[in-house]
Amino acid sequence: MINIKINKKVKGNGGFLILPIFREEITKFPADYPEIVKAFFEKRVKSKDFVGKKGEIVETYLDDKNFPPRVALVGFGKKENFNSKIARRVAGNIGKYLKQNKVTEVSVYMPQIIAQYAEQFVEGIRMSQFGIDKYKTCGTKKCPVYELEKLEIILGKEPKDFEKDLKKGDLISDSVHFVRDLVNGPSNIVNTEYLATEARKIAKEQDYKIAVFGDKELMEMGWGGLLAVNAGSPKEAKCVVLEYDGAKDKKEKPVVLVGKGIMFDSGGYNIKPRNHIETMHQDMAGAAVVLGIFKLLKKFGIKRNVVGVIPIAENMINEKAYRPSDIITMYSGQTVEVTNTDAEGRMILADGVTYATELNPDCIITVATLTGAVKVALADRYAGVVGNDLKLRNELYVAGRQVDDLVWPLPMHRDFRKKLDSKIADMTNGDVGTASWAGSQKGAAFIERFVKKNKWCHLDIGGTAFCEDIPQEFETKGATASMLRLLVKFLENRK
Ligand code: BES
Ligand code: MN
Ligand code: ZN
Repeated sequence: MINIKINKKVKGNGGFLILPIFREEITKFPADYPEIVKAFFEKRVKSKDFVGKKGEIVETYLDDKNFPPRVALVGFGKKENFNSKIARRVAGNIGKYLKQNKVTEVSVYMPQIIAQYAEQFVEGIRMSQFGIDKYKTCGTKKCPVYELEKLEIILGKEPKDFEKDLKKGDLISDSVHFVRDLVNGPSNIVNTEYLATEARKIAKEQDYKIAVFGDKELMEMGWGGLLAVNAGSPKEAKCVVLEYDGAKDKKEKPVVLVGKGIMFDSGGYNIKPRNHIETMHQDMAGAAVVLGIFKLLKKFGIKRNVVGVIPIAENMINEKAYRPSDIITMYSGQTVEVTNTDAEGRMILADGVTYATELNPDCIITVATLTGAVKVALADRYAGVVGNDLKLRNELYVAGRQVDDLVWPLPMHRDFRKKLDSKIADMTNGDVGTASWAGSQKGAAFIERFVKKNKWCHLDIGGTAFCEDIPQEFETKGATASMLRLLVKFLENRK
């Protein structure tokens, strides 16, 4: 959480002042902005190095005791195009600029049109400032940790729910940082036990019910998929089950979120090649997002029952590891011929989903870095969505659009499903040779064989969870917390 204040007037005791400018205002300096900035504004406009374009930032110094010494004009684009998404993105530009300049206290003149998107504004600033340098030691000195400390908002009339929205943006940002730290964290530190401990902390903080199954319980129950995948790891497998009762009717059917928690995916005996293996500490991003959501459910007062199921394993190689050609009996009783040990996510999710089906769910949503194929199909701006219920799929799609955390539906042909048929078991975990053709859908088709009659959708974040290319305005390199905002919105919409 950061310190957020709302004031009518800006003061001059240090700091940094931001003045948003829309394209339409480029010919006329906004009447309620400080007169002292006008000359600077006009010069910049005349020389055309400020035109009010989205994300444009120009800075000057003020020498007046009534104002902060540093002032920046920030372009917000055309008023007619302005929306929540642009608010978040331009705030992201601001956040990055402030971070580059190590500005810890900022004041923002906030016109009404921006104030209605207070939540998104705070998200943009804070999410863009996430630090990936946690593990630097800086020799003998203490590393400077940058974080914006104070955000002052200069505003005439507060729109409805203004303070509540600011707080929501702040809370979402906290949770996004939490998820990104988990996903960026290396597997030797953020391991199975670490993740389970984080889950326990959340349960304690928020007073949720929690169960953590270890090897012993999982063996007794027969979670063959999860245990097979984890067999090559020196650590125990685990499954975390978190329960939140937000519905008035305690008996209301829960939304069950199942998140893939592979702490490291070496590929197993189908070992991953160089350039693919190095980032596989991200393979618990689905699990991290489910935890991130549980951080928020109570604070947001979500009026639904929600259960989080998080199977956790490490896909490693040793003499105990599962092999290609092994036949595994899953928790559901179905048998799987392992054709590829690198298709491990679906193995652990299948057991998690079987457990979910026992909870009489309203719907099941799986979220997982399931395939590289989804990245080939949709790159890093859309997560793939597949499911057996169009209404549910549409709800997810709409929620994603609302919060700029996007999904795109992938088509499921019956022949993709058939491709998983095995001659010697109930199914294979991947068709040999062509598993990456419509690979995301085939991963989903595997999971589908375990969902029974339940409504289900699957979010493949294999392309979006971890940014290796160009981050968006509100992202940094590495973990993104893809699907956190979408799922929170989806649950909120169901109030
Ligand atoms: N964790 C990977 C998928 C992945 C790849 C996520 C790149 C993020 C970035 C998953 O377990 C995997 O290895 N999938 C295979 C499936 C194949 C063997 C059927 C893949 O995508 O190649
Ligand atoms: Mn894999
Ligand atoms: Zn994986």
